[in-house]
Amino acid sequence: MKTSDLLKPASREEAQLLEKLDPDRLPKHLAVIMDGNGRWAEKRHLPRIAGHRAGVKAAREVIETCARLHLRCLTLYAFSLENWRRPQAEVDFLMRLLREYLKRELPSIHKNNIRLLVIGRSEQLPEGVRKDIDEAMRVTARNTGMKLVVALNYGGRAELADAFNALLDHVRAHGLSAFHADEQTISDHLYTAGLPDPDLLIRTSGEMRVSNFLLWQIAYAEIYVTETLWPDFSRARLLEALVDFQSRERRYGGLGSGKGRAGSGGNGNPKRSGHPVRG
Ligand code: IPE
Ligand code: IPE
Ligand code: MG
Repeated sequence: MKTSDLLKPASREEAQLLEKLDPDRLPKHLAVIMDGNGRWAEKRHLPRIAGHRAGVKAAREVIETCARLHLRCLTLYAFSLENWRRPQAEVDFLMRLLREYLKRELPSIHKNNIRLLVIGRSEQLPEGVRKDIDEAMRVTARNTGMKLVVALNYGGRAELADAFNALLDHVRAHGLSAFHADEQTISDHLYTAGLPDPDLLIRTSGEMRVSNFLLWQIAYAEIYVTETLWPDFSRARLLEALVDFQSRERRYGGLGSGKGRAGSGGNGNPKRSGHPVRG
């Protein structure tokens, strides 16, 4: 199978990139920090919210492309716990935009067999948003295609704190005096329990930081930072990132024999590569 069997190229550039892409070595889980909406708008002398609106279009294209390429999981960082520090009007707009997006796109998400999941402290979100995401998760719950994970009111440290507190509750509730948590126990208590760790983390707009995103899960993710601002992150830019990913050699602390090339074999978890790793 060729990637061009999965995806019809819309331009010569896309066709050339697809040609370079090995469909068997795509990331199982792609995580994206969608950054640069505000700067995109500023460059055009538009209000920041125009950048967020343009960002929705980019998100739609990335979601559709990843689903067609049969990625198992796509996680999009949509709103961080720290984003409440922005002006109230911008926060309100982002919440409205999300509800609008869900209302408009849910039928096509569902039709494409995509399962929608939300990670983050959703209980702190406005009621209307909570209602809409619950509905979207309910409608798509039995879909078996790509998992679209939206990180909403998400913080990596908060996720770890929530996991540790859930473990402590469990210990107290069962009166366990000798309890030992290993890496798997902690993974199983994160919002992302059951999902593979991201193989590839993309951040747009050139910032070289992770901004509290999936701190535990990106331990061995390949990181791709592009200067492209999120609203300009087209299908071709995504394919470019995937081609770059496939050129990486993933060594997981070993010496690399070529067998560890991105996407080959394992699932990004060194524990499952057959080598004894403690934990
Ligand atoms: C990312 O774009 C969207 C969210 C964080 C919600 P920004 O709004 O952070 O855009 P810049 O970084 O200010 O350009
Ligand atoms: C990260 O972007 C959060 C999202 C993309 C939702 P920010 O724009 O909030 O990150 P910082 O503030 O530049 O670190
Ligand atoms: Mg930003």
